[in-house]
Amino acid sequence: MSGPVSVGEVGVDVVLPLRSAVLRDGGPAGLPGDDDPATVHLAARAPDGRVVGVVRLAPAPCPWQPARAPWQLRGMATDPEVRGTGAGRALLAAGLEVVATRGGDLLWCNARQTAAGFYARAGFRVATGPFDVDLIGPHVGMVTSVPGPVRGGR
Ligand SMILES: CC(C)(COP(=O)(O)OP(=O)(O)OC[C@H]1O[C@@H](n2cnc3c(N)ncnc32)[C@H](O)[C@@H]1OP(=O)(O)O)[C@@H](O)C(=O)NCCC(=O)NCCS
Repeated sequence: MSGPVSVGEVGVDVVLPLRSAVLRDGGPAGLPGDDDPATVHLAARAPDGRVVGVVRLAPAPCPWQPARAPWQLRGMATDPEVRGTGAGRALLAAGLEVVATRGGDLLWCNARQTAAGFYARAGFRVATGPFDVDLIGPHVGMVTSVPGPVRGGR
């Protein structure tokens, strides 16, 4: 891939193929709440329009930390061909902006232990001990606070 990705809001149908391929070994990849009006799906596209990364953000109580307006990140996946080139980072940055714009103050996720370093690089901290998720493997809970939205004008 050459050039940076562009990240934008999309319908769930756009994120499902990559979510399935990367996170469900090609199996069904729908998540409860995918169609809720408050749920936001983001896709990162290569310059040729190909979807190379996906993530979903939705309001949800955080099991480990009280917050006024917590949001959960799920379904984070990038195409193996583009890993290490910034697509995941761009999705996280755009996701934080979405949550901030909608008034969220905390973003949390159940991170695969193999991906915890990725979230840590973006400012998340580990909030739980390791726990197993059926058929997927070891996870840790991670959280990051969401800065207030940048307001324009004077
Ligand atoms: C985890 C994942 C989304 C990262 O995506 P990516 O496109 O490779 O991420 P980026 O290229 O934007 O990397 C951003 C930074 O995180 C680092 N990073 C990426 N994956 C990492 C990992 N698994 N562990 C530690 N650091 C990682 C990169 O080196 C980069 O560091 P830098 O800031 O020094 O440049 C991707 O590897 C993936 O889809 N993995 C399989 C599915 C998965 O585990 N999803 C998460 C489920 S909770």
